[in-house]
Amino acid sequence: MKRIGIGIVGGGYMGKAHAVAMSAVGAVFDTPLRPVLEMVAASTPESAARYRDAFGFRQGTADWRDLVAAPEVEAVVIASPQATHRPIAEAAFALGKPVFCEKPLGASLSDARAMVAAARDSGCVNMVGFNYVRTPATQFARRLIAGGEIGDLVWFRGEHTEDFYADPAAPASWRTEGEANGTMGDLAPHMINAALALAGPITSVMAQIDTVHTDRGGVAVTNDDQAQMMCRFASGASGHLFFSRVAHGRKMGYAYEITGTKGAIRFDQEDQNALWLYRAEGPEAGRGFTKILTGPAHPDYAAFCQGPGHGTGYQDQIIIEARDFLAAIASGKAIWPTFEDGLAVSEIVAAARSSHAARAWTDLRSFQE
Ligand SMILES: NC(=O)c1ccc[n+]([C@@H]2O[C@H](COP(=O)([O-])OP(=O)(O)OC[C@H]3O[C@@H](n4cnc5c(N)ncnc54)[C@H](O)[C@@H]3O)[C@@H](O)[C@H]2O)c1
Repeated sequence: MKRIGIGIVGGGYMGKAHAVAMSAVGAVFDTPLRPVLEMVAASTPESAARYRDAFGFRQGTADWRDLVAAPEVEAVVIASPQATHRPIAEAAFALGKPVFCEKPLGASLSDARAMVAAARDSGCVNMVGFNYVRTPATQFARRLIAGGEIGDLVWFRGEHTEDFYADPAAPASWRTEGEANGTMGDLAPHMINAALALAGPITSVMAQIDTVHTDRGGVAVTNDDQAQMMCRFASGASGHLFFSRVAHGRKMGYAYEITGTKGAIRFDQEDQNALWLYRAEGPEAGRGFTKILTGPAHPDYAAFCQGPGHGTGYQDQIIIEARDFLAAIASGKAIWPTFEDGLAVSEIVAAARSSHAARAWTDLRSFQE
């Protein structure tokens, strides 16, 4: 069994999730590469030491450059704020190291483009952290759609809604500063990625972007709290996407409803082990959405649990991601979603901002920034 040294930049919410995933992935999936938690980087020596001890890394550092340069770190996971993504990825690729980067890909469209170019030049494996599309339910939804089970798609309604800033008294933080950390930068990429994965390429968007609470404890909020956009897909289907961090009551409102010519699919991440399927067939009196509870018959479920309906959780998505990242490294072949897929999402985010500014539809095929 071959070992691989992992360095994780960031030990916060996602840094911990990736550290736990890298510790568990070999046992869950029997991966050919077994991760060793070599080094964690954080913003201060104290926090780096704390994360090192709490998560079981061999070393901690307050300078991500040490982590990237360390020979024992053979693959880098970026789980720090968006503005840090690009320099870390570029430095790792320059040394020929594979990179997993949390979403979104950098702090801007130009960051995303530069990161894709650096990945391409290096030939290194790269992956972006769109974890929610990896639930067994959403993987199954993709299979149902690809298999024509609900016919040709006519409509996609998606939302990513949470309420972590619904309280106007919640204090300012790095998340309330700068375009990249607002709702369009932070939450929208997940659901845009889902829309692309489930319904195919988007050709045009018409967006509206709002800041609901412009001041938090005397500190100006410089990014958006909620946004919505209409979109047109290359298939001819149309859709609506909504994103919010001020949606009272929504804790993990990553949800979609997809209508096809032969049926429909509904999903809500707050009930992540259920997929709702409607087939427009049989007598009308017997028709209705069927709740399908995920189990070993669904993608990637059996490795976690043999009991149908017992369920997988958030951390399991990150373990599935780790499995795919390690498999890509082992084979040398990229596995979806790569940095290119992250760039496709960043292009739609930028096009949405442009549409909002112009108060008009933006066509992705002619959009330039
Ligand atoms: N995929 C998901 O479900 C998901 C969820 C939340 C956040 N994210 C993404 O993950 C990334 C991190 O977000 P988070 O919620 O974990 O943030 P967080 O605030 O919880 O943690 C950020 C970490 O980055 C470290 N850090 C900050 N600047 C650094 C620097 N210059 N060098 C080294 N370390 C530094 C901090 O010390 C901290 O440990 C962001 O890109 C965010 O968009 C993804």
